[in-house]
Amino acid sequence: MHEDTYFYTGKIGNNPGGYMPFPVSKEVLQRGRERFNIYCAPCHSRVGDGNGFVPSRGFARTPPSFDIARLQKAPLGYFYDVITNGFGIMSDYSSQIPPRDRWDIVAYIRALQLSQNASLKDVPAGQQVPSTPPILREPGSGATLPVVAPAGDSTSENEKHEQPEKPEQPENEEPK
Ligand code: HEC
Repeated sequence: MHEDTYFYTGKIGNNPGGYMPFPVSKEVLQRGRERFNIYCAPCHSRVGDGNGFVPSRGFARTPPSFDIARLQKAPLGYFYDVITNGFGIMSDYSSQIPPRDRWDIVAYIRALQLSQNASLKDVPAGQQVPSTPPILREPGSGATLPVVAPAGDSTSENEKHEQPEKPEQPENEEPK
């Protein structure tokens, strides 16, 4: 019952929750990307920076980038709530997007936030999005969210988990 309520509201009591109500698979992210690109990208752009084509044509207000610190830190349930109830001048999508799809979109937004240029293959199948670390300064538990370290950050505790180094592209060596 509890889990059901969370599934439909994204909230625990009055507060947005920080976890997905179901495991995030490759299919979830694929579906999330597809729905996001249909319903959200016209305003938020495909990378979520707020530079979609609608705002560029004189929309009253430009959406914020999903990359700003406040939204990076926002719990997953917060995004679910924005889709469900709208926010400011953004109307809600509760009649157009069923709950399961809203969560898929939420998972995809988090993946976008974790890596601006993330493609689906960057997110291992079956992983909870909040625990998918490209480079995280703080890993995030059930209650807290991961904090993504800026590129080149060396204070990361997750360094051990970084992907094996990619070979530098030798063909592109510029003679100096
Ligand atoms: C018609 C344009 C439009 C569409 C489509 C749209 N949004 Fe928005 N969105 C906005 C605008 C504009 C704002 C800023 C609203 C404000 O500050 O009053 C916003 C704000 C947001 C915010 C930030 C809330 C905050 O705390 O600042 C989130 C998250 C968000 N939208 C998610 C989504 C998602 C997810 C979708 C797709 C399901 C979506 N939006 C579709 C225009 C849109």
